[in-house]
Amino acid sequence: MMIVHEAIDDFRRALDHTRSSGSSVGLVPTMGALHDGHMSLIERASRECDQVAVTIFVNPLQFGDVSDITSYPRTLAADLDRCAASGVAVVLAPSVEEMYPGWPELPSTTVSVGGLGDEWEGRSRPGHFDGVATVVAKLFSIAGRCRAYFGEKDFQQLALVRRMAADLGMPVEVVGCPTVRDRDGVALSSRNVRLTPEQRRAATVLPRALAAGTAAVASGHVRPDEVSAIMSAVVERQPLARLDYAVAVDAATLEVPSRISDIAGTRLLVAALIGTVRLIDNCAASVGPLVERELVGSDGGVGDGAVQAHGRMLATVGAGAATAGRAGAATAVRTGGESTDPNRWTWTQESG
Ligand code: PAJ
Repeated sequence: MMIVHEAIDDFRRALDHTRSSGSSVGLVPTMGALHDGHMSLIERASRECDQVAVTIFVNPLQFGDVSDITSYPRTLAADLDRCAASGVAVVLAPSVEEMYPGWPELPSTTVSVGGLGDEWEGRSRPGHFDGVATVVAKLFSIAGRCRAYFGEKDFQQLALVRRMAADLGMPVEVVGCPTVRDRDGVALSSRNVRLTPEQRRAATVLPRALAAGTAAVASGHVRPDEVSAIMSAVVERQPLARLDYAVAVDAATLEVPSRISDIAGTRLLVAALIGTVRLIDNCAASVGPLVERELVGSDGGVGDGAVQAHGRMLATVGAGAATAGRAGAATAVRTGGESTDPNRWTWTQESG
């Protein structure tokens, strides 16, 4: 039976009890409005941990804009149903006053992760990552020793949380999980419900820009500014979209490298406003033909026959896409056909 706590102390005690009886805890922090992306984290946590704890809290510290937080979808009853149906053991759904006693006075102690949080989302949303780091530090401190599951969908957030847990010696193993997408490639997001049908169609520019960027890197573009221009052009062709940034960065530092190489992993990041809704997306990119493990990710996006044919050339698309594989790697190249992975399906759309 799932137990829902509003009080921090009760939640803390429940998890202490779980550990004292020898069971491991998987923590999934969320802001609710749960969709299949969140559920994939819960499913992964239940595969890897004895008990899953979910937190549902729309954290005011990480919203710069009052209208953004007031329009943030809240669906607590449905969220709790979904959690219960997936075997979640315990939920923390605290009020703002419970999380931040004295609210609306801000907490005196906040957490700031330098460097990693400065650019991209950090620059466009001042204060956002301090708000995220502060609430996640508090949730980690409340939850205690656990594995904590975060989506690659918010890649910069994941990097920042990992760094924070390491820097502060928190007894939390941060686990990154692949992005879950709709059939048209758009990453699932609680914000998508605020898009009109026309805007929702326009939102496909984000995965299409990433696919164009991945293709550019694979076919030999090593200059980050060129890849950035290729991705930006895709977004700029969509009249309903306003580009914020489209960049190729070092996956570890999130800085733009002087040259793209496979020595440091490369991540493509894109952010755009569609109407008033700000959407972000990202994916990995590698020089030369994609290797199978990169196409498939860990367990996300698998499902079409193409990627399940391990270790052999699947198809060749575009000039230079299928040249030499790297030593020891199974070579696979982007294929057409519908798939939930933008590395494949939109590539064909872009080139066609
Ligand atoms: P929220 O946006 O609710 O997301 C909760 C978790 O779900 C995050 O780790 C996010 O990366 C992950 N997620 C969202 N969409 C996903 C998708 N399409 N595929 C896979 N994972 C996805 O991120 C937050 O809340 C907050 O900043 C939080 C960490 C809870 C702190 O307040």
